[in-house]
Amino acid sequence: MTSELNTDKLAVLFVDDEENVLKSLKRLFLDEPFAILTAGSGQAGLEILKETPVAVIVSDQKMPAMIGAEFLAKSCEIQPDAVRMILTGYADVSAAMDAINKGGAYRYITKPWNDEDLVHAVRDALERYRLGAENRRLTALTIEQNEELRKWGAELETYVQQQTIDLSRRNKELEQLAVKLKKNFRDMITAFLKIMELRDHLLYRHSIQVAALVEGMGKAMGLKAETLELLVSAAQLHDIGSLKSPDMSLLKDMKEMSPEEQQEYAVHPVRGQSVLSVIDDLKQVGLWIRNHHEWYNGQGFPDRIQGESIPLGARVIAVADTFDWMMCRAGHAQNAVAGMLEKIRPLFGVRLDPRLFESLKASAASVYTTDADKGQDIVIELPLEKLAVGMVLARDIRSGSNLLLLGKGAALSQKALDSLCRYHAVDPLKEKIAILTKVKPA
Ligand SMILES: [Fe+2]
Repeated sequence: MTSELNTDKLAVLFVDDEENVLKSLKRLFLDEPFAILTAGSGQAGLEILKETPVAVIVSDQKMPAMIGAEFLAKSCEIQPDAVRMILTGYADVSAAMDAINKGGAYRYITKPWNDEDLVHAVRDALERYRLGAENRRLTALTIEQNEELRKWGAELETYVQQQTIDLSRRNKELEQLAVKLKKNFRDMITAFLKIMELRDHLLYRHSIQVAALVEGMGKAMGLKAETLELLVSAAQLHDIGSLKSPDMSLLKDMKEMSPEEQQEYAVHPVRGQSVLSVIDDLKQVGLWIRNHHEWYNGQGFPDRIQGESIPLGARVIAVADTFDWMMCRAGHAQNAVAGMLEKIRPLFGVRLDPRLFESLKASAASVYTTDADKGQDIVIELPLEKLAVGMVLARDIRSGSNLLLLGKGAALSQKALDSLCRYHAVDPLKEKIAILTKVKPA
């Protein structure tokens, strides 16, 4: 066995039992750019293949102990990628076919060979090996890259899923925060109103009525829910700047005020805006409050702006404020709404925005309902089994042994109903239960 292996070169293994043949083959391929390995038998060839990578195997067919076809077949198990060739006599075609079919030989070369043909055949085999190796390398690379891509895809999917979960959680937190902020905002407005109620009940009542009118007008105008909520808040607080002088009656006309009162009255819109300017969420509300006494023709105060230069919110509040002021002076007389609408009509286009009359008309009737409109309270008596959640008691409920169970005026809850049933089972009620209900006028 001879080895001239250079690890940088591809190797060609020649196997022949005749030493002279191997020598002549070595001479023939001496100048070729590949390493030459030789073996004197099939067994020796297999030993080389176990240790050394080989690109091309050229084997003689006719050898003692192990013929070429058998050797090539065994070599396939050790180095399946090597390109195999068989050298065989002219007459031995069946041996050549055997080597091709069973030994995986790529071609056969007849002996004696033509040197030039053999050199070309080995070069071709090497090229075939190179192409095969390159093909395997590219296939492996493709598989590896596909696997990388699959991993990246899976990681990306996991990352996207995690990001989606995080975003969804953050959105939920933001929604909860928004709800909390909204509640805080409403609580703050309620606190302002409570202060107003304590200080000046008439002003408080006027503010509530104006807010109700504005809400109805806003709905009739099709304002967005957020804008309407802010506008109603502005209406509730529109005269907050008057709290400094609670004795100044709302029922007075400016002409009826003393010069000091007039001076005070003239600054209440600016003072209202100034009170609210410290709260970021109420900046817009403050601006509407500042301009709620501007006139459509520019003769109002404090800025004497006119037409659409006056913010829409301020124009809506001005309409509601003026109408409620007129209703207050008339003592909220029953059935006064229609008449008051006729009285206020000439002010539209002069003091008030003419486009807002219809929305006032749509809102006013529902705000100024009288007790007679709402119906009259009457008392009806019902047995226990006819009671329902929400009913209001017209007198106390006492057990059979005269124990007070629920007081007059209480609204029935499901819990209260359940308790009554339990008491009734052990200490039966002696009377029917008196319930308050309303009867609408005919
Ligand atoms: Fe005012």
